[in-house]
Amino acid sequence: MRPTATLPMLFTAEFFQDSHRIEAAMREQAPATLVRTPAGLRVWVVTRYAEARAVLSDPTVHKGPGIVEVARRNVEADAHGAEAEFVAGLGGHMLASDPPDHTRLRRLVSRAFTPGRVEAMRPRVEEITAGLLAAHRPGDRVDLLDMLAFPLPITVISELLGVPGHDQDRFRALSNELVATLSPDAAAAVAGYLTELIAAKRADLGDDLLSALIDAHDGDDSDRLSEHELVSMAFLLMAAGFETTVNLIGNGVLALLTHPDQLAALRADRALLRGAVEELLRLQSPVDMTTYRYTTEPLDLGAVRIPADALVLVSLGAANRDEARFPGADTLDLTRPAGGHIAFGHGIHHCLGAPLARLEGEIAIGGLLDAFPGLSLAVPVTELAWRPSAIVHGLEKLPVVL
Ligand code: HEM
Repeated sequence: MRPTATLPMLFTAEFFQDSHRIEAAMREQAPATLVRTPAGLRVWVVTRYAEARAVLSDPTVHKGPGIVEVARRNVEADAHGAEAEFVAGLGGHMLASDPPDHTRLRRLVSRAFTPGRVEAMRPRVEEITAGLLAAHRPGDRVDLLDMLAFPLPITVISELLGVPGHDQDRFRALSNELVATLSPDAAAAVAGYLTELIAAKRADLGDDLLSALIDAHDGDDSDRLSEHELVSMAFLLMAAGFETTVNLIGNGVLALLTHPDQLAALRADRALLRGAVEELLRLQSPVDMTTYRYTTEPLDLGAVRIPADALVLVSLGAANRDEARFPGADTLDLTRPAGGHIAFGHGIHHCLGAPLARLEGEIAIGGLLDAFPGLSLAVPVTELAWRPSAIVHGLEKLPVVL
């Protein structure tokens, strides 16, 4: 292995503003690249489509609590105060677990979070969207993220979980704080709120998702989610369902506004909308990097061998722009069969909320185009800034004229 001092640095300020170009350079050179993060971790980043799918479905690549030790062994000697624990986040949920724990958690939550429950949200998602859009007039200048992309998913997830109306402002403030700071204090405040909410639901089950999770069990009633698992699951649903969908809407609208021919085609033929959401997810993937994984055996990706005991991140954003899978990958083409994209991940951790995200994306983008035929960017595209987040790919603000 080369001396680590020469490793390229990932997650720099330059990376966040220009991630697609930097990832393309890595992808051209090799299917996976060893980099270091600002916190001082050595990590392999996988950037090619075929290899990304292979890693995400490889049973020797793990996510469970063992990752904390692996991270400790992959901290650079000169790293100052690197917190290896951050890779584990609030543990105990299925995105931080391996089979057989993952299998059990996912089975129980899938029983509660059914396609029927998502489809039943459709009229309500339409109503919330219409309410947000109706607060503005054509010609208004607004930040589209504040106006629509943030409030829609947070309202939907709080109603889905069954956060009572009088608590929704508090829940939204806590979630915003968490997203803005990612601090342990904010995480503890959210977990504290969810613990209270679960206690209240236990006493009086409703027909919301949280009540269904409290009630979810295997046939013989033996295998309910524990208190800690319930809090972690609710936390995961909130965090995973919120940050990401915001960026599907924000990035998607930006891609349309910067490709006027495609926007015109979509306005002219609304049958394109469903496929358009898939192509927007591919081109501007809201989750750029998966969560961390680790190897327990050497992993051969083409000519590259990732050793055992290494940390791995899969760049979904880079894989979704791999020319070998999507010719003309950097171009938005709403008629492209973009179905094979991996914006929702792949393998056993494939996004559980994908049907809900697609529903929200379609309704938000379709509703926005209907309400504002003259929608345009309010600033030159070069003035837009991307958020410095290691996981999600999303804008700081999206100023538009409605
Ligand atoms: C997992 C993306 C919306 C719930 C994932 C993963 C990705 C992803 C890439 C896998 C991460 C990994 O393997 O490291 C997205 C995107 C969304 C979105 C791009 C919006 C556009 C949602 C929503 C919910 C949700 C709305 C729920 C309300 C989950 C859950 C997991 C997950 C529970 C963990 C699944 C498991 O570990 O088995 N998502 N997500 N997501 N997502 Fe989503």
